[in-house]
Amino acid sequence: MKKRLLFLGPPGAGKGTQANLICQDQDLVHLSTGDLLREEVESGSSLGREAEIVMNQGELVSDELVLSIVEKRLSINSQGWLLDGFPRNLAQAALLDDLLQKISQPIESVLLIEIDDQILVERMLLRGRKDDNQEVISNRLKIYRDKTAPLIKHYKNIGLLNSVDGFGSVEDVNSRIKEALN
Ligand code: AP5
Repeated sequence: MKKRLLFLGPPGAGKGTQANLICQDQDLVHLSTGDLLREEVESGSSLGREAEIVMNQGELVSDELVLSIVEKRLSINSQGWLLDGFPRNLAQAALLDDLLQKISQPIESVLLIEIDDQILVERMLLRGRKDDNQEVISNRLKIYRDKTAPLIKHYKNIGLLNSVDGFGSVEDVNSRIKEALN
């Protein structure tokens, strides 16, 4: 199975859930910028306080902050990794390309988890994270369409994109992903 992966998809698509399973199974490092930012918020650091305001509105945190979080973790690891929630726009994708070229670790596959908006919203409302309320979810979906969805074309054009249907049980989706990554 491929060992340097990127998961793409709208909020609530199941990226984090599936990334955890694949990383446990394949012994990959799971780099979720959302989780790393939430840790920063929990720590009460000044960066965390800055990020919290932005996250609670469903907007994107600055590219520089996110890159600094990812960079040190990618550079010290070579057994394989899965990026979840990063890159989030074309500028972050360009920064990531530069970084991966520098450390000679190209992406092997980009996996897009596709699913209807209605199911996403139901899942997120059920989860009830701080940014999982109707208003913030709508903004997160808008930001996804405006800023993140252009990455689909970008990775398709360079031949890295695979899509899977995110509807169904966690186990069913996981089987589809494993098949797509083999
Ligand atoms: P982030 O944490 O990345 O949130 P997100 O992209 O909105 O994704 P979610 O965590 O909501 O969804 P997911 O696809 O991981 O689904 P999950 O597996 O959790 O980002 C949060 C914020 O941080 C952003 O808004 C932004 O402010 C900031 N940020 C993060 N990265 C950034 C970046 N690179 N640049 C700038 N800012 C950044 O599943 C969702 C729910 O559904 C769970 O409860 C799960 O149990 C359930 N579920 C999963 N699969 C299934 C299934 N098959 N059936 C039923 N339920 C399921």
